[in-house]
Amino acid sequence: MMDNDAKSRAAVGFSAHFGRMPRWIAEAPGRVNLIGEFTDYNDGFVLPMALEHRTVVAGSPNDSDRITVRSEATREEVAVDLREPLDPEARGRWSNYVRGVLAGFLQNGTVVRGFDAFVASDVPIGAGLSSSAALEVAFATLLEGLHRVHIDSLAKALLCQRAEHTFAGVPCGIMDPFIASLGRKDHILLLDCRSRQAIWLPFAEPAVSVLIINTNVKHHLAISAYAVRREECGRAAALLEVSSLREATLERLEHHLPCMNEAIVRRARHVITEIARTVQAAERIREQDWIEFGQLMDASHNSLKNDYEVSCKELDIVVETAQAIGRRGGVFGCRMTGGGFGGCAVALIETARRDEIVKGIDAEYRARTSITPTFFTSRPGAGATAIEV
Ligand code: GLA
Repeated sequence: MMDNDAKSRAAVGFSAHFGRMPRWIAEAPGRVNLIGEFTDYNDGFVLPMALEHRTVVAGSPNDSDRITVRSEATREEVAVDLREPLDPEARGRWSNYVRGVLAGFLQNGTVVRGFDAFVASDVPIGAGLSSSAALEVAFATLLEGLHRVHIDSLAKALLCQRAEHTFAGVPCGIMDPFIASLGRKDHILLLDCRSRQAIWLPFAEPAVSVLIINTNVKHHLAISAYAVRREECGRAAALLEVSSLREATLERLEHHLPCMNEAIVRRARHVITEIARTVQAAERIREQDWIEFGQLMDASHNSLKNDYEVSCKELDIVVETAQAIGRRGGVFGCRMTGGGFGGCAVALIETARRDEIVKGIDAEYRARTSITPTFFTSRPGAGATAIEV
């Protein structure tokens, strides 16, 4: 354990703040989605990997009816009185992740007792790397430890997704809590969001790396547009007379063109083609065909930008710059990742060329936006764990 990683900061922070040692330390990873964007809530496929960057929650019982959760990042405390009803707070507050997960445990019949907890995280917040699912899943895993209950990992992912819907007000899919719960070191996940079947693809090739580029912008549209797109997909499926866009095809879309508005057609086209690209991309990982994998990433970005309309100027600059460096400069492909309207882009690169690629993107992005981007690489990390200390 490094001195300054989230795990040690959570443990040290807990002791400093509450004046005793934590009993449990639980952690869950952020994630980066390599391809398969906005396909999870359409019953499609996604291809995320868990990051080595983690959110850690250290906790210990406090023999009371109160729960106090302190955040290192915001220096705020969430206080819950277990004798009172548990309701969502104002939109956008991180306390909703904690409250929503607690509500899930109470609904499941767990007798929750008072405890103190301290959260520290290495997952950038609000950058499209699923810091919220990392917090929810880490917190749920802490609750399991503290109350000596075990929840099956899929059930835990669903509980956290419900927290996101009902407390945070984001109608998200299953991808983020699923990978945060179940992530596997050195493996990328191909998840069928309809059957919830997980296929783990080994990815331990040292010559190839996943580079994450944070634009360091977040446009306000992100949350409202997410719900609008989800609703548009529902409408498209209804017009196409399928139960979800997973069941749709380009031929069917073509056939129904006359009765659909142009924007809805483009939303559906993104989802249909993105699902196909994701399945192909998984094959390319199996074959270690990084060149074609990169081409699928590039095509995914085009589709997200033009058909799904969830990119933004800053993401496009990063992606264009990386794509211009291209194969000869060691970039296989690049695309926006996560919910869009800012946050991060992800590129597949030759490990040996990392420094020059970072330098090139950094200079161009600064020159065109006056914003400093941040870069990091991660190998696929493990899913949620908890230890009793
Ligand atoms: C957010 C949501 C996910 C998924 C992605 C887009 O991260 O939480 O469920 O829909 O956006 O692929």
